[in-house]
Parts: sequence; structure tokens; C-alpha cells
Amino acid sequence: MLKKLSFLTMLLAAVFMFANVAISGDEVKTKSGDDVKAKHAFVGAKKCKICHKKSGIHASWLETKHAKAWDMLSDEQKKKEDCVKCHSTGTTAKGVFLEGVQCEACHGAGADYKKKSIMQDREKAVAAGLIMPEAKDCLVCHENVPEEFRAKEKFDYEKMKGTGIHVIPSKTEKTEKK
Ligand code: HEC
Ligand code: HEC
Ligand code: HEC
Ligand code: HEC
Repeated sequence: MLKKLSFLTMLLAAVFMFANVAISGDEVKTKSGDDVKAKHAFVGAKKCKICHKKSGIHASWLETKHAKAWDMLSDEQKKKEDCVKCHSTGTTAKGVFLEGVQCEACHGAGADYKKKSIMQDREKAVAAGLIMPEAKDCLVCHENVPEEFRAKEKFDYEKMKGTGIHVIPSKTEKTEKK
């Protein structure tokens, strides 16, 4: 019994330590994404492109400031966690650093939802970490921007969504289903 207890205590301590590391390592991104990030791995926009190319989503995202957000930083700034956190997406399981605001910065880390059979089923995809972003998921980065870089206008979700994300095929035609 005593042995069992101390084992449990150690296990708890280990879990706690791990959780702390995970939090201090990546305190960025979507509020909902915070738990998602702990549970799922990033794969990078190139993986999403495989299936989201024909619709023009990937190409139109590449044209946005999000895709180029990393390039805006100087070499010095690229070393500062205070800048990196909103100008990058995360690191894949293989250790590849994902520059700029990629798909998964908004949609959640994709390793577990990117399979076609899961992607086609919104419920399964969400259970596997997919986020269909709302205004609050943008505000994690668009609130508290350092003053010198902050946009003059207040963040207006509907307006910013119109120009800042990528084409939305469902608003025109269902490309991917075909
Ligand atoms: C193996 C192919 C494949 C890959 C890889 C893939 N997707 Fe998808 N995705 C799909 C399909 C198919 C749909 C359903 C499309 C539809 O209904 O129009 C979909 C739907 C979506 C949707 C809309 C979900 C909904 O319910 O409206 C989002 C958002 C999405 N994918 C994001 C991503 C992101 C981000 C990645 C990369 C991490 C990714 N996908 C990788 C095939 C894929
Ligand atoms: C909380 C998230 C966040 C942090 C932290 C952050 N940025 Fe940004 N940055 C943004 C957003 C969002 C924008 C776009 C402007 C806006 O929407 O207010 C931006 C814009 C910029 C721009 C472009 C400005 C322009 O005129 O186009 C530069 C350069 C920049 N940031 C550099 C930095 C540097 C350097 C740091 C670290 C000192 C930093 N950012 C930290 C979110 C952030
Ligand atoms: C991971 C952080 C992050 C998230 C999440 C995020 N953004 Fe951004 N966004 C940025 C950064 C950083 C920039 C500035 C990039 C630059 O200027 O190079 C930016 C720029 C933009 C711009 C261009 C502003 C301009 O001056 O032209 C729009 C529009 C925008 N974001 C909309 C959104 C919307 C809408 C959402 C949510 C659906 C969102 N963003 C989520 C970090 C983020
Ligand atoms: C800045 C945040 C942001 C980024 C980056 C982003 N998305 Fe989205 N995405 C959104 C939002 C917000 C919506 C929901 C728009 C709506 O329906 O109002 C969306 C919708 C979608 C949809 C559903 C489209 C439809 O027809 O309904 C797919 C698929 C998708 N995104 C895939 C991707 C892929 C792939 C990437 C990367 C190449 C990506 N997204 C990058 C915010 C983002």
C-alpha cells in the first residue's frame, strides 16, 4: 500500500512537471488551442496543402501577411520569445520549426485530424483537435500587440476575416468534396 502510494505521488509529480514544461514552452495561440497543443502534434502547412490546394485555400493563405509574418522579424527579433510567439506556429514532432502564422495556428495542431476519413466528419475532426476559429481565437494574437507594431484600427473580426485568412470555398462552391 505504501509503495503504491509513493509511486502515485511520483507519477503525479512527474505529470505536474511535464505539464509545467509544456506550458512554459508554448504559452501561445488559441485559448481552446492551449489544451489542443498539449495533446496533438503540429504537421505544417505543406501537409494541409496536399488536400487543400485545389480549392485555392493554400495559395490564397500564402498571399496573406500571416504566411509572411516570420519574415517581418529581424534576425535579433527571431531570437526573442516575445516576438516569436505570435509570429510563428509551433514545432512539429520531428522538430521542424513552423515559421509564420500557418493553418494550425488557427485550426489547431493537425497530426490527429488530417486523415481524410476524419477530416470529412466535422465531429470526429473536432474531437481530434480541429478548431473552427472564431473571433476569440484571433484575439490571442491580435490583442496585446506591442504598441509600436499595433494596427491603428481596432480589430474587427468580420472585416479582418474577409481579407486576412484565405478563400472560403463553401461560400462559393464545395471544391474539396468533388
Ligand atoms: C488527406 C486530405 C486532407 C488533409 C491532409 C487535410 N485535410 Fe482538411 N479536409 C479534407 C477534406 C476532404 C475536408 C472536407 C471538405 C469539405 O467538406 O468541403 C476537409 C475539411 C477541412 C476543414 C473544414 C472542416 C469543416 O467541418 O468545415 C478545415 C478547417 C480543414 N480541413 C483544415 C485542415 C488543416 C489545417 C490541415 C492541415 C493540418 C488539413 N485540413 C489537412 C481533407 C484533408
Ligand atoms: C500578442 C501577439 C504579438 C506579439 C507578442 C508580437 N507581435 Fe508583431 N504583430 C502582431 C500582430 C497581430 C500584428 C499585425 C498588426 C495588428 O493587427 O495590430 C503584428 C505586426 C508586426 C509587424 C508589422 C507591422 C507593420 O506595419 O506591418 C512587425 C514588424 C512586428 N509585428 C514585429 C514584432 C516584434 C519585433 C515583436 C517582439 C518585440 C512582436 N512583433 C511581437 C502580433 C504580435
Ligand atoms: C498566431 C498568431 C495569430 C493568430 C491566431 C491570428 N493572427 Fe492575424 N496576424 C498575426 C500577425 C503576426 C500579423 C502581422 C503579420 C505581418 O504584418 O507580417 C497578422 C496580420 C493579420 C492581418 C493583416 C493586417 C494588415 O495590417 O494587413 C489580418 C487581416 C489578420 N491578421 C486577421 C486575422 C484573423 C481574422 C484571425 C483569426 C481568424 C487571425 N488574424 C489570427 C498573428 C495572428
Ligand atoms: C488566421 C487564421 C486562419 C489561418 C492561418 C487559416 N485559416 Fe482556415 N479558416 C479560418 C476561419 C476563421 C475559417 C472559417 C471562416 C468562415 O466560415 O467564416 C476557416 C475555414 C477553413 C476551411 C473551411 C472552408 C469552407 O469552405 O468552409 C478550411 C478547409 C480551412 N479553413 C483550411 C485552412 C488551411 C488548409 C489553412 C492553411 C493553408 C488555413 N485554413 C489557414 C482561419 C484560418
